[in-house]
Amino acid sequence: MNNRTIAITGGAGFIGSHVVRLFVKKYPHYNIINVDKLTYAGNLENLKDIENEPNYSFVKLDICDYEAVYELFKSRGVDGVIHLAAETHVDRSIKDPFTFARTNVMGTLSLLQAARRYWDETPAPQGVRRLFYHISTDEVYGALEITDPLGIEPPFTTKASSGKHHLAYGSKFFTEELKYQPHSPYSAAKASSDHFVRSYHDTYGLPVIVTNCSNNYGPYQFPEKLIPLFINNIRHRKKLPVYGRGENVRDWLYVEDHARAIDTIFHKGEIAQTYNIGGFNEWKNIDIIKVLIETVDALLGREPGEDMNLITYVTDRAGHDLRYAIDSSKLQRELGWEPSLQFEEGIEKTVKWYLENQDWLDNVTSGEYQNYYESMYKDR
Ligand code: NAD
Ligand code: DAU
Repeated sequence: MNNRTIAITGGAGFIGSHVVRLFVKKYPHYNIINVDKLTYAGNLENLKDIENEPNYSFVKLDICDYEAVYELFKSRGVDGVIHLAAETHVDRSIKDPFTFARTNVMGTLSLLQAARRYWDETPAPQGVRRLFYHISTDEVYGALEITDPLGIEPPFTTKASSGKHHLAYGSKFFTEELKYQPHSPYSAAKASSDHFVRSYHDTYGLPVIVTNCSNNYGPYQFPEKLIPLFINNIRHRKKLPVYGRGENVRDWLYVEDHARAIDTIFHKGEIAQTYNIGGFNEWKNIDIIKVLIETVDALLGREPGEDMNLITYVTDRAGHDLRYAIDSSKLQRELGWEPSLQFEEGIEKTVKWYLENQDWLDNVTSGEYQNYYESMYKDR
């Protein structure tokens, strides 16, 4: 295999840290550069176990700083970009859309232009396939209806969905051909960035791939997102703010399975293609919340279901998408990827990790986040 130099943006965040770890460990002959601004969501603690590996380096940089990005690509000879850096929390995007447009749209544009300029100037090393791989979200497709409140059999099952729970909440799924219909400032900014990426292929011939993944869960997720926030709250017996009636459906994938998909697609995906990533694993929020309560209570030796009374229904999220459901059959069929972990197994592993890493949670929730969280929920 060829030596390569890959810039992974957002590598100090949740999914990025799993991708960096996987690449650093699996490809000792690659140079992996973690490019991250270290916003509230980025934390180098997430990579403590690999920070001294000889093929890993960290560069603190704002992806919107085009000249700095170009200089980095040139000085390090970057021949692959895996772009995860973004503002990612929908609730924050409702409060502060400008930051989302800046990072997610202008930041992506700055990376595209820097890659194009450097790659146009310098021939690719022999045998290396240059690639700009953009990580996007299923939220760009908008929202699906719930057509069967009891749940129906999904078109096919995967390891992720083959546990006790095995339902789809409608017959339509997000496929790669679906037209974009983003509803939140977050998903609108991600959709815009996807369009820019494709335009750089069509206009300038930049070798790009885009993937759109469903909701991820697992270790190192910032505890403003549903699963880590609720695990932390259950542990501390704080209220669980369920938006609306808790009926919204999300499609959950274990984060390491997403990282493995990124590895497969980076190496085997076809240029200019889009791949959807997901495990056919739909859950209503309220059902997942009950599983979280049962799991935390069991692991802490509390009475089963003792903490159900923490569930508190609060004002719904504005423009709250009803249902996400990814059809990942193209990726499974063409590149042979499939999830490795059953959801029940993944959730137990995840809950255990947060309970055993309270220091990490305390560390990331101190300071700026506390103020944000209090202002977010003061009226609820
Ligand atoms: P995250 O919020 O945990 O991490 C984002 C990272 O980007 C942080 O380390 C942050 O410091 C960095 N960053 C933010 N702005 C930056 C800037 N201007 N310059 C450089 N670095 C910057 O995000 P995540 O949940 O790991 O998501 C990663 C990517 O995957 C995002 O592009 C997101 O849209 C996409 N995605 C996430 C999910 C999910 O469920 N979390 C699902 C599908 C797709
Ligand atoms: O689908 C992929 C997307 O998943 C990613 O692109 C986003 O970056 C990621 O944040 C996630 O978006 P969601 O909005 O689905 O995730 P979140 O964890 O914020 O919310 C999951 C569901 O839980 C959603 O229906 C809203 C609900 N919720 C969330 C929070 C934080 C609550 O009911 N209460 C809460 O306090």
